[in-house]
Amino acid sequence: MQDVTDLPFLRTIASFGGADLYVTEYFRVHIHSRLDPYILRSITENPTEKPIIAQMIGQDASELARTACDLKNHPIAGIDLNLGCPAPVVYRKNAGGGLLRHPDQVHEILGRLREACSETPFTVKTRVGFESEEEFDQLLEIFKSHDIDLLTIHGRTVKERYQTPVHDDRVAHAVRSLGCPVIANGNVVNCQTGLAYLKSTEAAGLMIGRGAIRNPWIFEQLRCATSGREIPQVTGRMILEYITKLYDETAREIPEFVEDRHVQKMKKYLVYISQGYDADFEHQIRRVKNKTEFFATCARFLDHGDPAPDLPSENSRLFCGFSQFL
Ligand SMILES: Cc1cc2nc3c(=O)[nH]c(=O)nc-3n(C[C@H](O)[C@H](O)[C@H](O)COP(=O)(O)O)c2cc1C
Repeated sequence: MQDVTDLPFLRTIASFGGADLYVTEYFRVHIHSRLDPYILRSITENPTEKPIIAQMIGQDASELARTACDLKNHPIAGIDLNLGCPAPVVYRKNAGGGLLRHPDQVHEILGRLREACSETPFTVKTRVGFESEEEFDQLLEIFKSHDIDLLTIHGRTVKERYQTPVHDDRVAHAVRSLGCPVIANGNVVNCQTGLAYLKSTEAAGLMIGRGAIRNPWIFEQLRCATSGREIPQVTGRMILEYITKLYDETAREIPEFVEDRHVQKMKKYLVYISQGYDADFEHQIRRVKNKTEFFATCARFLDHGDPAPDLPSENSRLFCGFSQFL
């Protein structure tokens, strides 16, 4: 995730169990682009001991193919094309989710990338359409015709942004129609929602974004749940330990560290982490000005051995629609 799943975040999350496979933040691709050195470090210094796929976003087939060739010089597990980003500044340029409005262009880009990745796994991350999920069948035909190696589906349209339940029936349909593994994404916030999404789609796996910022143990919990082991319980104090680690790891990557500015960056993670707690937690964190206030507020809500809330609140404005899986 852009500005989130960077090298310090990967270090942190891996130390708490972590995922089985990672995807980088996207490399922006255009005529003048070069591989972003900071994102590249997630690959060259991959601290997770697990494979990492490099994701690209762009709309020019030749430049995307050129960038894929550059990325192949690094230890990647594959190349992924982003066809899902809903940010207007991206989709208006016909990149990310914007490409879903132009199936012919998707067809051309996939052809060039498949050619460039003849011996490298080539994967796609998509939404189920731009305006409507009815566009999805045509997209699936294109994905099929290029023999992609894996498809990750965020089960919303671009227009639905993050605001709705996911169309798990469309994901299930993709699982049945494609020859490659399909990964289900969107609205997995705990074990129960993850298991329900897997059950309703029979997907080969899950991609978890915001739910992993909120609870980095979610991957380990799901591995336990799917292999019949006891699910480890997360306590308030464990979340506090996670925040402290994230603070330290992100701080040590900043060349000219300014404490108060760093606290502002930490607040972005806390927006996710605080979901499910008393609303006062998020409210108070928004108002802290320095490290002392930041950690005092975190300790007020988290320095205890009781279980951390398993779910965000059902009316959370960040996690919308996950109750479809409860
Ligand atoms: C801050 C933020 C940044 C994101 N950046 C990316 C990105 O770079 N590439 C990508 O494929 N998806 C990106 N996404 C989308 C997520 O990967 C995921 O598809 C979406 O959040 C739904 O899954 P979730 O409910 O597990 O978070 C981003 C999402 C957020 C909230």
